[in-house]
Amino acid sequence: MAEVIIVPDRADAGALVADEIVSLIRRTPDAVLGLATGSTPLPVYEALRPRLQGVDVSRVRGFALDEYVGIDLDHPESYASVIRREVIEPLGLTPELVRTPPADDPDLATAGERYDDAIREAGGVDIQILGIGTDGHIGFNEPGSSFASRTRVKTLTRQTREDNARFFDSIDEVPRHCLTQGLGTILEARHLVLLAFGEGKAAAVAGAVEGPVTSMLPGSAIQLHPRVTVVVDEAAGSRLALADYYRDAFANKPDWQGI
Ligand code: F6R
Repeated sequence: MAEVIIVPDRADAGALVADEIVSLIRRTPDAVLGLATGSTPLPVYEALRPRLQGVDVSRVRGFALDEYVGIDLDHPESYASVIRREVIEPLGLTPELVRTPPADDPDLATAGERYDDAIREAGGVDIQILGIGTDGHIGFNEPGSSFASRTRVKTLTRQTREDNARFFDSIDEVPRHCLTQGLGTILEARHLVLLAFGEGKAAAVAGAVEGPVTSMLPGSAIQLHPRVTVVVDEAAGSRLALADYYRDAFANKPDWQGI
């Protein structure tokens, strides 16, 4: 089962996950990071900044989960721009080693396959950071997505477009399509770390961690993975039936285990 860690706030979650990433990079200077965008991973990226001072990150590689289709990659809210602004520049990563799905590829039908090939050629993702949508999506694998899916074009649900309208001037500007890693692609990462904050994520988190494994809640695919860490604040963890057990397990965890 996933290890669930309930923390007081986002900053604690960011610190916990950042510590794990730093120890990975120290062990493996050419580590492959799976990068999420949106609001959720920001505390991780913020916590990484001071922790990576003095650490050689020149060989660290990265693959983003998804990208909008239909907006210019120079648009400030394209995930290529977000990754450059929130990850590559502040952390000092080598831009050529960090990729986002190429949503500007003239051959979009096969672009996903090439992205998956690139991940494979890099040796696979060591640690995949994930957020979760209020409709249960991970990456942009909306409800109904196949657990075997690979990187491909998907249509965003109305709910996801409403949720993401806050990044744009209006919902009409939120793209309808995206190029997203598939659930099958995501499940190949060696360690999944799913974060969620706020009451609005509580139902999706409970469904993903404790509900039936179903494509209707794509986040439940994490139950098929042997190494998953779920880090939530009290509000996002408020619907977890086994919350007391998770707290007890984490409080009594040997230090050497990490997350
Ligand atoms: C973003 C991604 C999405 C988000 C999810 C939650 O790369 O893959 O699954 O993680 O939509 O978004 P936020 O974090 O903005 O609530």
